[in-house]
Amino acid sequence: MKAKDLDKLLSYLEEKKKLIEETLEKYFPKPEALSERVISAAKYSLFSGGKRIRPILCLLGYELFQEDSERVLLFACGIECLHTYSLIHDDLPAMDDDDFRRGKPSCHKAFDEGTAILAGDGLQALAFYFFSHKELVKTVNSKRLLKAINLIADAVSFNGMVGGQMGDLLMEGKKGDKKVLKWIHERKTGRLFTASLISGAILANAKRKDIKTLERVGRALGLAFQIVDDLLDLLGDEKKLGKPVKSDLKKKKLTYPALYGVKASQELARKEVEKAKSMLKSYGERAENLLLLSEFIYQRVN
Ligand code: IPE
Ligand code: IPE
Ligand code: MG
Ligand code: MG
Ligand code: MG
Repeated sequence: MKAKDLDKLLSYLEEKKKLIEETLEKYFPKPEALSERVISAAKYSLFSGGKRIRPILCLLGYELFQEDSERVLLFACGIECLHTYSLIHDDLPAMDDDDFRRGKPSCHKAFDEGTAILAGDGLQALAFYFFSHKELVKTVNSKRLLKAINLIADAVSFNGMVGGQMGDLLMEGKKGDKKVLKWIHERKTGRLFTASLISGAILANAKRKDIKTLERVGRALGLAFQIVDDLLDLLGDEKKLGKPVKSDLKKKKLTYPALYGVKASQELARKEVEKAKSMLKSYGERAENLLLLSEFIYQRVN
């Protein structure tokens, strides 16, 4: 990626991150007496430097068809709440048992397991509060909003993220094949990635044909994103990543490098990103930021 392009992307990401974080802060529930601890735990994990890629994908999906993406910021924030909930639970001793996340002790380490479970539960419910928030209902078409909510809900449910996470746990220490591995990655990461992008497009009243194309783009990018995540677990720098490396090895996870080796995994991620980029070509300049983000997904170091 050229330095000029990277600068352009980073300043776009910074701008959107700031808007997303301001909105999250503004609408986050205020603590009352005994709920203070769980709200602090949720905010501890939420405001600790995530890349905000999924909510940004929602904004990018919207921006392919309309300009005023500020209108759907609350929707994008709901997506980030779902993602952060998944990370808090993913780190629990009963799952990946990881002590660091986003450069700080994981939620269950900074607080305790019970609090971390509740913080995740609360963020998951809060997401749907945001998706159906009266401010959002005021600004976007209700039918489209319902369609987007339905899509996201399915993406994180049993045949989406939760199903994929189940597969991930069940295959620990087992010899899986390529089909099973792809099945897991497409669900644990790919489905929310895809739904994030498409939900933005739906909210912007995109045509059915465009949604179909973007579904393929999201799938390719989501798979590439998780392959790169697997690679970073093996080759990444813990300081930059903000989470432990070699965690997948310790847990004997079924990952791309474990099954295909490093080089073939890199090639597969590259191929998926190229696939996404070529499908985006027809959108011309409107897809510029999404094209840059696609490249970043491959080249990222955190
Ligand atoms: C980590 O997601 C979990 C995966 C699905 C790979 P991110 O790499 O987007 O994590 P944050 O949000 O930036 O911390
Ligand atoms: C997590 O995959 C996918 C989720 C749905 C959270 P990983 O377990 O590989 O994510 P990291 O590496 O802990 O961020
Ligand atoms: Mg995991
Ligand atoms: Mg994990
Ligand atoms: Mg990982």
